[in-house]
Amino acid sequence: LKVLAVASEIFPLIKTGGLADVVGGLPLALAHHGVEVRTLVPGYPAVLRALEDTEVIAEYGYFFGAFCKLLAGRAAGHQLYVLESPQLFWREGNPYSGPDGQPWPDNPVRFAALAHMAYLIARGDFGAYVPDILHVHDWQAALAPAYLHYGGHTRPRTVLTIHNLAFQGQFSRDLLYAIGLPGHAYSTDGVEYYGGIGYLKSGIRFADRITTVSPRYATEICRPADGMGLDGLLRQKGAALSGIVNGIDVDTWNPATDSALAATYTADTLERRAQNKAALEGCFGLLPGTGPLIGIVSRLSWQKGIDIVIEALPAILAQGCRVIALGTGDAALEKAFAKAVAANPGRVGVYAGYDEQLAHLVQGGADAILVPSRFEPCGLTQLYGLRYGCVPIVSRVGGLFDTVIDATAATCDLGVADGIQFGPVSGEALEEAIDRFVTIYADTPALRALQRQGMSLDLSWTRRAAAYAAVFRSLVGQDDS
Ligand code: ADP
Ligand code: GLC
Repeated sequence: LKVLAVASEIFPLIKTGGLADVVGGLPLALAHHGVEVRTLVPGYPAVLRALEDTEVIAEYGYFFGAFCKLLAGRAAGHQLYVLESPQLFWREGNPYSGPDGQPWPDNPVRFAALAHMAYLIARGDFGAYVPDILHVHDWQAALAPAYLHYGGHTRPRTVLTIHNLAFQGQFSRDLLYAIGLPGHAYSTDGVEYYGGIGYLKSGIRFADRITTVSPRYATEICRPADGMGLDGLLRQKGAALSGIVNGIDVDTWNPATDSALAATYTADTLERRAQNKAALEGCFGLLPGTGPLIGIVSRLSWQKGIDIVIEALPAILAQGCRVIALGTGDAALEKAFAKAVAANPGRVGVYAGYDEQLAHLVQGGADAILVPSRFEPCGLTQLYGLRYGCVPIVSRVGGLFDTVIDATAATCDLGVADGIQFGPVSGEALEEAIDRFVTIYADTPALRALQRQGMSLDLSWTRRAAAYAAVFRSLVGQDDS
């Protein structure tokens, strides 16, 4: 089965969040299920620098207002198609925004071009390669099913994976012709969305199947309170909408071999984590202590509930914890953390940047990883925490709800507990959750039981990929045998 995936990020080439991890992790795992994935990505500098065995498939003097080439090649184990365009994609740094932190004004055209190229490949413009399935990720790729529809094609069948409904790609209706859509596409039953053009909305409208990155999130977004304006359309999709929990790359994230750690370890040598904790104390300028070290690795945003951590911080410190945060994002939240560091020297540490290696060290040395999100389509940091014996403390939403088993008397008795869940998303509820963790932390056998249970889980893509393969096969009318 041939699948063309389309996305704006792919690990390890370009990453701003979990999307890249998923787009990078799925292809290899799907290969074990007889699914051959090629991925179309924009030609960012980091992608072009890594591309090998490059072949020029097509060249355009004027494609969405720009000079473009379609390249094929390999990078980091991926079979890639790359939409190369100096004008659209040769920009260093964040793929979506400029040095001022503002979205690039031409984002609607950049990602319409990406989706349109996906459409051209999908309908078979380039020689022998015609995919059976077009798999688009998030709003940046979501116009592709609309292009197929308005181009009069019912094949290949299409799957849209929604990683985050909060990012919808809504733009001015004036762009309709510039992005190559016909006038009649501008209707409520088409690409129109609240007076503009909705890229994600179009994908939801025209994809044959929609998946979210956890089952719970699929249910949540059908409710007005969490549907962000799209719940009505999502409800209409009925059984065509479902959730598949993300896997993780268990080789990149393996505490037994991880070169980012000061000391590698297994479930049988958890005492070695102390060396990583000491390394973290050094990195974050903490004074050594005996209480729990609570870690955060996150975009600093409203979604991630970081503000409630700030709110609860005095109480968390009063409970004897120390807190470290690795993250960038909202200036106000960065500032609030910097203030907290100044007010609590040696007990709160912040690294306001993006650092993949340090993220690994936090998972390998902190006692708990805190994910207090207001909503979370899946969340990967809690999964990395489980794999690293870094106990996840999470809010009871979306993929966090689906992947962490709260330590209650019953779940501990059964030996299935692997973390702590709390709700609602408030400073007060967070304080209670930390309180529960402090009690567990003081009881080493109880703590070890949680850690070992998390580390014993199979969180790999191999398992999750089977669910994607089943979705793809159901669309092309094959069974999963
Ligand atoms: P989201 O994609 O919504 O940001 P996820 O939990 O799905 O959330 O994925 C976040 C990914 O980004 C994880 O791989 C996490 O380790 C990584 N990450 C987030 N912030 C940082 C940071 N400041 N430095 C390094 N890695 C980070
Ligand atoms: C999004 C979501 C996150 C999810 C990731 C990968 O960024 O916010 O919850 O884990 O995509 O699917």
